Amino acid sequence: MQISVLFVIYGITVRLAVTMSKKNDLSPETLNAQALHHSNAETGALSPGIHPSSTYVRDENYELVDPRHSYGRAENPGYLVAENVLAELEGGAAALLFSSGTAAAMAVVQTLRPGDRIAAPKIMYWGLRKWFAKFCDQWGLGLDLFDAADPGALEKTVIKGKTKLVWIETPCNPSWDIIDIAAAAEIAHAADARLAVDSTVATPVLTQPIKHGADIVVHSATKYLNGHCDIIAGAVVTAKQDELWERISELRTDNGAILGSFEAFLLQRGMRTLFLRVRKACESAQKFAQHFDGHAGIEAVIYPGLQSHPGHKIAGQQMNRGFGGMLCIQVKGGAEEALEIVKRCNVFTRATSFGGVESLVEHRYSIEGEGSPVPRDWRRLSMGIESVDDLIADFEQAIDL
Ligand SMILES: Cc1ncc(COP(=O)(O)O)c(C=O)c1O
Repeated sequence: MQISVLFVIYGITVRLAVTMSKKNDLSPETLNAQALHHSNAETGALSPGIHPSSTYVRDENYELVDPRHSYGRAENPGYLVAENVLAELEGGAAALLFSSGTAAAMAVVQTLRPGDRIAAPKIMYWGLRKWFAKFCDQWGLGLDLFDAADPGALEKTVIKGKTKLVWIETPCNPSWDIIDIAAAAEIAHAADARLAVDSTVATPVLTQPIKHGADIVVHSATKYLNGHCDIIAGAVVTAKQDELWERISELRTDNGAILGSFEAFLLQRGMRTLFLRVRKACESAQKFAQHFDGHAGIEAVIYPGLQSHPGHKIAGQQMNRGFGGMLCIQVKGGAEEALEIVKRCNVFTRATSFGGVESLVEHRYSIEGEGSPVPRDWRRLSMGIESVDDLIADFEQAIDL
């Protein structure tokens, strides 16, 4: 009997080992396209199900049928595919989906206690910057902003024993400043702080912050992860399943910051093509940036893929496969002309957000409003998957007076 039990255990061990070695041999593109070779063990369905149930039944002994599922504000079986794939792509220990990128970021910040301080870039996603500025004071948190374009600024900003969270974005939206993740991790850890990286713009296709020392990775899954501008979603990935992670997980439940079941389905579906979309967006952004760099009607092209970009070298070290699909163009003629050019675009769609299959153009200052640190004569472009020649021609006609 003992031998047969041992045999069964041995059999399982061998099977797992084979699965692991196969997984380790596969490229992230393959793992992602196949959602870790997902299929439903009971039905054979290749595509994961949508689980709208708000509650889960108990058997005649009052035991949950599946102990992982009790009530829909804690989690949803439909999250598992996207969470497992994202954790794998990021090289993390676990991932959690949230109702939005903002909700994901909030859960990380809400792990802090009154008196703790956050170090964050002066230019970063404006919604979070606004939230930090508004609520840190109210909640008894300190906020110290640093210039992401200055490589020495973070070290001077972090206060040992007080700074508990170093929050970075790289590339920073929308200045596209590049922050050295490994250096930021070293600074954060030397001060006993955690490093959280908002990697929405880079995606795990281009950068895996955990490999460079980050503790937490945050995504607005609304953007590239989903890729089709049809959901609002967020995600947090952790390097370790520690106390911080437990708290983040509790906060999702406590805040009710859960993603809808249909949105979870759309997210895992959109993620299957992440590598193709991001690769195409990077190629187009690079070609577009090179075309307009030095162009007669253009003052400056802000894109980390250009050698002239101050963060180009670090970007090359921590970004694989490309420099991202986002760039800004500063045209000659000032703020008014910047807005007029946006109005004259016909192929680019005029809309905020980014990371979808269709290319978007926006006048960032108008979106952020009075007090925005973004120069008024910048246009932010999100490259989609259309023909880049059509996009170049569209921008040419828009600037050609
Ligand atoms: C870099 C970045 N992080 C976070 C967010 C917030 O994400 P969401 O709109 O999904 O709440 C955004 C939104 O634009 C963003 O650009």
